[in-house]
Amino acid sequence: MATLRLGDDAPNFTAMTTEGEINFHEWLADGWGVLFSHPADYTPVCTTELGATARMKEQFDGRNVKVAALSVDGLESHKGWIRDINETQHTEVNFPIIADEDRKVAALYDMIHPNADDKMTVRSVFIIDPDKKIKLMITYPASTGRNFNEILRVIDSLQLTAYKKLATPVNWKQGEDCVILPSVSNEEAHELFPQGFNEVKPYLRFTSQPN
Ligand code: BEZ
Repeated sequence: MATLRLGDDAPNFTAMTTEGEINFHEWLADGWGVLFSHPADYTPVCTTELGATARMKEQFDGRNVKVAALSVDGLESHKGWIRDINETQHTEVNFPIIADEDRKVAALYDMIHPNADDKMTVRSVFIIDPDKKIKLMITYPASTGRNFNEILRVIDSLQLTAYKKLATPVNWKQGEDCVILPSVSNEEAHELFPQGFNEVKPYLRFTSQPN
């Protein structure tokens, strides 16, 4: 299959998960989604990642984002491991973990990189918008835990673009000034941003982050 790229349709699938069978697009409904793979169950880095993701549920919910994890291990393995995650990470896993034993979903999303490991999935992350388009793809090596605060930061930026016609500058953090999309004229910017904006150059215009 062709390599996925930003802007492509997120492939749909039906899969068994720790919360029952899901049709991915129906499960996402009209919200945003994060699909992330981890190399294997009962591994240390993955255990910390899944625990942290569970503890961030309110932050994902507040942004209308559903989260699903995936590995190529089976359902019983996932269920046993969840008990360990809950115990060691002081949380309750509150999102589905896909049991992708036949690697169907891993193949659709190109999550197995054979020159890294031909059996396990790498650490892929996909952010999917309400139109089911892929908005972000990142790939981490198995030995490096991801930064889920960064994933939330990108979701905030994508939602500012989708809903407010704003982009976010280097190292932007929640509450800092944003930049106005180049496609927005100064006339429109005056209407959209009544708080005003600072035109450093015609192509570089800052405004405070709207609520
Ligand atoms: C882990 O999830 O802890 C892990 C998996 C594969 C290689 C190294 C670490």
